[in-house]
Amino acid sequence: MNQDTIDQYEKLKKTLREYGYNYYVLDNPTVTDDEYDTIYRKLLEIEKDFPQLLTPDSPSQRVGDKPLSQFKNVNHKNPLYSLDNALSDDDLKEFDKKIKDKIDSNDIEYVAELKIDGLAVNLNYENGIFVLGSTRGDGKTGEDVTLNLKTINSIPLNLNFTDSSVPKLLEVRGEVYLSKDNFEKLNNIQKENNKPLYANPRNSAAGSLRQLDPSTTSKRNLDIYAYTAIIDDKDISFKTHYETMIYLKNVGFRINKNIKLCKNIEEVQEFCDYWKQERKNLDHDMDGIVVKVNNIEYQKILGFTSKSPKWAIAYKYPAEQALTKVEDITIQVGRLGALTPIAELTPVRLGGSTISRASLHNYEELKRKDIRVGDNVIVEKAAEIIPQVVKVVIEMRTGEEKEFIYPENCPVCHTPVINDGDTIIRCPNFKCKQQIKGRIENFVSRDAMKIESIGESLIEQLVDKEIVKDFSDLYSLDSETLLKIDRMGEKSVNKILANIEASKNPTLEKFIYSIGIKQVGQETAKDLANHFKSFDNLTSATLEDFVSVFGIGKITAQCVYDYFKDMDNLDILAKLKGYNVVPSQKLDILDDNLEIKILNGLKFVFTGTLNKLTRDEAGKLVEKLGAKVTNTVTKQTSYVVVGDNPGSKADKAEKLKVRVITENEFLEIISDKESQEI
Ligand code: IVH
Repeated sequence: MNQDTIDQYEKLKKTLREYGYNYYVLDNPTVTDDEYDTIYRKLLEIEKDFPQLLTPDSPSQRVGDKPLSQFKNVNHKNPLYSLDNALSDDDLKEFDKKIKDKIDSNDIEYVAELKIDGLAVNLNYENGIFVLGSTRGDGKTGEDVTLNLKTINSIPLNLNFTDSSVPKLLEVRGEVYLSKDNFEKLNNIQKENNKPLYANPRNSAAGSLRQLDPSTTSKRNLDIYAYTAIIDDKDISFKTHYETMIYLKNVGFRINKNIKLCKNIEEVQEFCDYWKQERKNLDHDMDGIVVKVNNIEYQKILGFTSKSPKWAIAYKYPAEQALTKVEDITIQVGRLGALTPIAELTPVRLGGSTISRASLHNYEELKRKDIRVGDNVIVEKAAEIIPQVVKVVIEMRTGEEKEFIYPENCPVCHTPVINDGDTIIRCPNFKCKQQIKGRIENFVSRDAMKIESIGESLIEQLVDKEIVKDFSDLYSLDSETLLKIDRMGEKSVNKILANIEASKNPTLEKFIYSIGIKQVGQETAKDLANHFKSFDNLTSATLEDFVSVFGIGKITAQCVYDYFKDMDNLDILAKLKGYNVVPSQKLDILDDNLEIKILNGLKFVFTGTLNKLTRDEAGKLVEKLGAKVTNTVTKQTSYVVVGDNPGSKADKAEKLKVRVITENEFLEIISDKESQEI
């Protein structure tokens, strides 16, 4: 390789970057597709001959080569806030007044922007190179979706700094979305392949960005609008938000052109009114207008609440309504046994998605609204809020409508229902399959034990086939059993078992939330964990102890107390303990320096000759990730790794039903886990 090749390679990259920018960001192609392809092929040729030249910002790096097994978590350097809503013109005036009072000025400029309905992402650039992209997650921690974001052609991999200095660190926030056209196309393909349809462009954008295989994401044609930036470089600062947006545009980001610098709140109001009608003509969904104080000094004075900036607000349009028909009323059984009536509706478009079901909440509500099968009803959906049946159009009744008779027995297990007296009708059967499924779904969910790859359909089969009778039985699953389940291959089985194994040491608050105590959501679980510090303290507490916990009312205290007196629950908890599922004492505090030992608590035994690693290396690797290596196989052993010519340990493992894996499978688990480390 000589200097000419290096120069030519750099030139090709630069040219392709420019063509891509013109095409994807400015929407103004300057060369034909054939011309682009010719140059792109040349670039690939050079990269093939001289792989040492390849850099992550090369246009060829947009499509990652191999699927991931899961996403890594990313702790955001700066939190991603959400926005408060202004639900009326008065709310908008109130927002303006508060700002004027605080700043002590009548002269406040705002920037009004479309609130793009997609999902927020954070893009990190180091010295102008795109290094990490993540989803918003809960605002503090998101998922590393860098490879998928690279497939979005309008995200610059390398920023363009002609007349400005290169910031050491730049965080750009933007909204990834799917256009209405691409949404239709995607759903047509889903339909052709007999796959479930996406409800709306936002869900499909989120689904597309969370694909483990970047080549799937790249086919979805996602796009992005950048809407704010955080720059960590003392030489670069902006006086206004508007200037920041121009900067973002200049360095290569796609900015929505429907942005307006407003002299006062009246101009903001005009902008909102204009887009109320006009939004239906856009090629993407929007769910309001974002209004931001333009002056960055003022933004600093105004600050943040725990959730959102005080200098910005999302103006939301009133809920959309539509007329449709109740085709049937069905009953859904929740994880705590509540029977909820559901209106099955003639599908209707509403607020950017198709609605075919709406919860009628409870018996009282159903009676109050007098909703009957066959009724024409008005449904409503405020942005991001679940659809509601507002009222029956009585005038359209024909007399054929049928009143819904509440069932006397649970529709799933046929046990006679009971009325708690609190408007909720319940199935009292703890062993009702629907309740079991609901409790397991809660147990494995992201906010609970976070056992990934156990989805609704697997749970359905496990419970229907009576393989799993409660969530503790998940820990008794083995590959033989799982392989018998529809569409289960060896690879997914190994992944599921490894995920189950790795979930055994949750934080106390996650564990309390997971076990499904009535009235105990995430917040209450946190309060209980902070108060009792250990699970043993919690299980042995008196009713008075629970009542005395700050933030916990009498009803909740009684529910928690009752939970730990119930034989069925105690039985499940004992089983969990038997499987070594034990909450750690560590509190769930986010700490950048916290090293997460992802194989915590596992025990490995090695036998036979390994080919790719020495025993010593394997042992060190395992220990680094928090697990132990032992010599003898016991019931407590998590995995026996067999190399060539294994000894009697493998036989013993078979006998004790301990999982036996090959060296390659072991390496796969380790590489999955290693990539999870923060
Ligand atoms: S600014 C601190 N601008 O709306 C500033 N957000 O409810 C926070 N969104 O999570 C956001 N378009 O995903 C901003 N032009 C825009 C936006 C926008 C869409 C989303 C974003 C955010 C959510 C806030």
